[in-house]
This record gives sequence, structure tokens and C-alpha cells, in this order.
Amino acid sequence: MIITLCGGGSTFTPGIVKSIALRADELEVDEIRLYDINEERQRKIGVLVDWILHEDLGLDIKLTVTTDKAEAFTDASFIFAQMRVGGYAMREQDEKIPLRHGCVGQETCGCGGLAYGMRTIFPMVELIDDVEKYARKDYWILNYSNPAAIVSEACRVLRPNARIINICDMPIAIIDVVAAALGVSKKDIVYDYFGLNHFGWFTSIEVKGEEVLPKLREYIHEHQIFMPEAFLKDKGALIKSNKYEEKKDGEDGEKNRHLKGSWYYVWKGVYEIMELFPEYLPNTYLNYYLQQKEFVEHSDPSRTRANEVEETREKNLFEGIDRYEKTGEIDESVFYAGSHGDWIADLAIALKNDTGARFLVITQNRGAIPNMPYDAMVEVPAYIGKKGPEVIAQDPIPLFQQGLMMQQLNSEKLLVEGAIEGSYEKVLQSFTLNKTVPSMTVAKEVLDDMIEANKDFWPELK
Ligand code: NAD
Ligand code: G6P
Ligand code: MN
Repeated sequence: MIITLCGGGSTFTPGIVKSIALRADELEVDEIRLYDINEERQRKIGVLVDWILHEDLGLDIKLTVTTDKAEAFTDASFIFAQMRVGGYAMREQDEKIPLRHGCVGQETCGCGGLAYGMRTIFPMVELIDDVEKYARKDYWILNYSNPAAIVSEACRVLRPNARIINICDMPIAIIDVVAAALGVSKKDIVYDYFGLNHFGWFTSIEVKGEEVLPKLREYIHEHQIFMPEAFLKDKGALIKSNKYEEKKDGEDGEKNRHLKGSWYYVWKGVYEIMELFPEYLPNTYLNYYLQQKEFVEHSDPSRTRANEVEETREKNLFEGIDRYEKTGEIDESVFYAGSHGDWIADLAIALKNDTGARFLVITQNRGAIPNMPYDAMVEVPAYIGKKGPEVIAQDPIPLFQQGLMMQQLNSEKLLVEGAIEGSYEKVLQSFTLNKTVPSMTVAKEVLDDMIEANKDFWPELK
């Protein structure tokens, strides 16, 4: 059984490998392969992965690190994809260009997300074609590569028969926060949810059969932020602030970057949304659509999340690997093993062993949300067996959420159509329709700057 990680040089690779390795028996995994287009970056991650598999856990799992597609995908059963097309340099553009025009600048939301989507559609299609060529016929691609909403819509349109499931770790991270806030085990939590990716709501959260949304509302109202101290413990350098910067500040070395910088507003925003719309627990990403003006006001256009990530997760990890190569000493806190890796590895177990376990996935609606289109790629709970996701029927959703979702869905669909047809007008419609953009003129200004910045990545638009 072979699992290939595409985007092997990702900062998330060590954590995912650890989750796979801890489930080696259920997955019956013989070999893990890392594939990336950046050889040196992936080589370094490979050094750490080798340590995890062979030194730390002492497992008999073969490790292959390659930039050759045939070597990467031949006979693979699972491909876990996590590519960042254009890297952090282009993420920075996605965040900074819209801000210059007074619009939300974010990795996956608003114009930044649309731009990142335009870069990622065709590399993802290429991945599917490579996997179809080399991998086992019953392969599954489990995709984390963002923007997952646009990637999933593009794959549905361009490769409808591909065995790909798109997933997101934000809802499960929110469930980790819920568990910490209420002092319960996440294993005891069962939830209902509807939405698009990075655009959804928890409608029910039960702990051992008890509905806890009322308690949660109280908790959030009282604390005026949704980030309990208990969540911040044991998370590792992935979400820790930069150690050196903290020493300068004289701050607590363990202080978490979720309590300062841009993430602070994310968790604060959950409180702010709940104060006005308390019925459901919102996905944190709704902040960018419901507080677009406030986001722009508290953002620094010269220092965005991309800079924060480069100075924390990225820096801590690669410095940790350099130190290991020089001294042989490892600091496990430089990588984060937890929900992100557990989620994808558990999903693979459900597919492989046909368990029928319930997972939140991004999948075709097929009537699950009766008042959303049949073909919409929605994020909903589904039962997972060897044939893939089987969606679970829900009641119609309220007009407020449905209206927001339709606007976002159509913005994303227009982007995909624009990319496929090379249509400037459709992409301009996509930008104009997005709730983060105040007028068609602003949409055009942002789009024209995006075309310039993305000339090495985007298809030509006419
Ligand atoms: P990263 O830049 O650290 O790693 C991405 C890797 O992908 C790099 O090593 C890069 O060289 C490689 N890559 C780029 N284009 C590629 C291609 N065409 N083929 C193969 N490899 C390619 O980024 P990261 O912060 O670790 O995030 C990785 C991806 O996972 C991003 O798309 C990010 O948005 C996504 N992500 C998604 C979720 C989710 O909830 N869906 C959660 C976390 C991260
Ligand atoms: C969450 C989301 C991901 C996103 C990540 C960004 O995990 O679900 O889709 O990639 O946050 O985190 P970062 O620290 O890179 O901004
Ligand atoms: Mn996500």
C-alpha cells in the first residue's frame, strides 16, 4: 500500500506523515512517497520525515522522496495533495493587491482566493491526469490544496470521473476549540454543518447526545473571543509565534500566534458574528464576508498573514531541520502533528476499509441541501465508504445563509468558467459578484493588477 504526498515540501507534511504512521496498521501502509516540484525544499522535509518514520517511531515503512512523476505515482493507492501554486510569494500578492484597493486580501477568500484559484485549477487537473496514468485504478486523491472550493468545482467540471475528495481542516479545528472551551473530549462531539468551503455554519453540536450550542453561545458572549487557553497548549511551532521575535519583545516564549496578528481578529470575529447572528456557530472564514470593511481597517497592507506564516510556521520548521542536520538534535515542536493530519489519515481509513464513518467533506450537493443547486460543491457531512462520500439529506437552509452562499457559489463558478474559456468578462463578473468587492470598477482595478502579478501562472484572458 503506497501513499504519495503531492506537495511533499509542504510545512504540513511532517504532521501528516506522523498521523499516517500512527495508523500504519489500519492503513497497511508499506511505502510513503513525497513528490514536489521544488527538490531542495522537499529534500529538507524528507530528512525530518525519515526521522519520524525510522528514528522516532521505528517503523518498517519505505520512504521515497522524488520529483519524478512516474516514481511518485506508480501503483499508489492514495495521493494526499497539498500544493501551494506560486508559493508564499504569490500568497503575499493575493493578500496585498486587494488591500491596496480597499478590499479584503486573503489566501482563499475574496479576490485573493479567486486569484489563487486561477493559479491552481490547471496544476490540479494535471495532477489528476498523472495519477490516472500511473496510480492504481482505485486510487483516491484526498485534496487539501487551496482554494478547495474553486479546486473542487474545477475538478467536477473538467474531470467529473476523477476519484478526488476535497477537504478542509478549519471545521475540525473549530471543533477542537469547542472541545477546549467546554472542557470535553472531541471524540464525544457530533455536529451538523452546512456551507461551501470556508463559508459555512455549525447548526448543531452535541456532546454525548446533549445539544451544547446554548452553552457555547454563553461561553463566547462572556469571553468576547472564541479562543480558550486550553486550545493553545501543545500545538507546537506550527501555530506558535516566532521564538526570536518574542525574545526581543520579552513576551512569553509559548505565546501563540492565534492570539496576536491577523489570527486574533479571526477568533474575535466569531464573537462579533455571534452577537448579531447567534443561531449558528459560524466558520471563522465568514469574517471576511461579513466584516469586510472592518478587515480592511485593521489590516496592514505591508504585512499580511503570508508574512506572519513565513516568520513562524515556515521559519521555525526549516530552522529546526537545519539544526537537526547540523547537530543531530531534534525539536519536535517545530512541526505540528494533530487534527490536520489525523483528519486526512482517518478519511483514508474510511475509504480503504469501507467503514461508513461520517466526515465533513466538500462534495456535490446532490440534493443534500434542498434549496441549493444539485451540482453545487458544498461542504456537508457524508458517510464515507469505498465508493466515496454518500451525502446526508438536510432541511432547507434559511434565506440569509442561502443568499450568501449563492452569491459566493456563483462568483466561484464564474471564475472556473472564465478560466476554462479564457474569458476576461466572466472573471470580471466573478470578482464583481464577490461580496468582498464594493463595485465593478474596483473589481476591474484589482483584476487588472492580479493579471499582471500572475502572468507566469494564469491562463490568458481575452
Ligand atoms: P507550502 O508552500 O509550505 O507547501 C506547498 C508545497 O507545494 C511546496 O513545497 C511547493 O513546492 C509545492 N508545490 C507547488 N506547486 C506544486 C505542483 N504543481 N506540484 C507539486 N507540488 C507543488 O504550503 P503550506 O502552507 O504547507 O500549504 C500547502 C497547501 O495546503 C496550500 O494550498 C494550503 O492552502 C493548503 N492547506 C489547506 C488546508 C485546508 O483546510 N484545505 C489546510 C492547510 C493547508
Ligand atoms: C485553516 C484553513 C486552511 C488554510 C489555513 C491557513 O487551516 O482550513 O484552508 O490553509 O487555515 O493557515 P495559515 O496559518 O497558513 O494562514
Ligand atoms: Mn480550509
